[in-house]
Amino acid sequence: MPRPLRLGVNIDHVATVRNARGGRHPDPVRAAKLAAEAGADGITAHLREDRRHIVDSDIDRLMAEIRLPLNLEMAATEEMLGIALRHKPHASCLVPEKRTEVTTEGGLDVVGQFENLKRYVCELGAAGVRVSLFIDPEPAQLDAAKALGAPVVELHTGAYCDAPAGAEREAELQRIVRAAAHAEAIGLECHAGHGLNYETVGAIAAIPTIVELNIGHFLMGEAIFVGLGNTIQRMRAVMKDARAAAGATA
Ligand code: PXP
Repeated sequence: MPRPLRLGVNIDHVATVRNARGGRHPDPVRAAKLAAEAGADGITAHLREDRRHIVDSDIDRLMAEIRLPLNLEMAATEEMLGIALRHKPHASCLVPEKRTEVTTEGGLDVVGQFENLKRYVCELGAAGVRVSLFIDPEPAQLDAAKALGAPVVELHTGAYCDAPAGAEREAELQRIVRAAAHAEAIGLECHAGHGLNYETVGAIAAIPTIVELNIGHFLMGEAIFVGLGNTIQRMRAVMKDARAAAGATA
């Protein structure tokens, strides 16, 4: 039996549209409620230092109003640590953050930032928050995450999704396949995300040791055309079919 694969719905870009006009509409918390009804297993939100999409009051309301586990994506900064320790979400995913980037461009350099990250992993873990580190699919980064004591890694799938279909994308996929096997071998729970859509999600969902996918931008964009509930249900179905087919051939 293949292991279940969870879908975390990232609601950041509902807030991006809201913030384009100020005001309250569309409300990311309403999107989170709809995602829960449509079968999401968790809600993900990235509170950025510049508050370009999700803002502090969104996190307050998500914690108060949503029953699904919240995965709070955040940079390893003093300010974000304080916010996470105050709210104690189910999980915190530590991500690199640059003010000038459009989105999270690459994984966290856990090897290079090892000493700096220790405190964040320790304090969040001690508060009962499940810590995950968003990393590129590189064995050295996985080993460093394990040495830090993080229970979870999330593999950055951006390079795979951005690569043109064919040999280049396949090579990126194989990096993720190897990294997910390495995560299992060293005892890390493995998640994945960034840039996934209906076309790219199947090969990732078929990797048996990946147990959670976090998806946002594509879901919110597609929702404009067919609605958020339909989009999430279809994404779940694509993930489920790919997982089942991989289990059947394993
Ligand atoms: N996982 C992490 C850690 C992210 O930073 C993001 C983007 O905010 C995602 C998943 C979701 O990426 P996308 O919005 O491209 O689906």
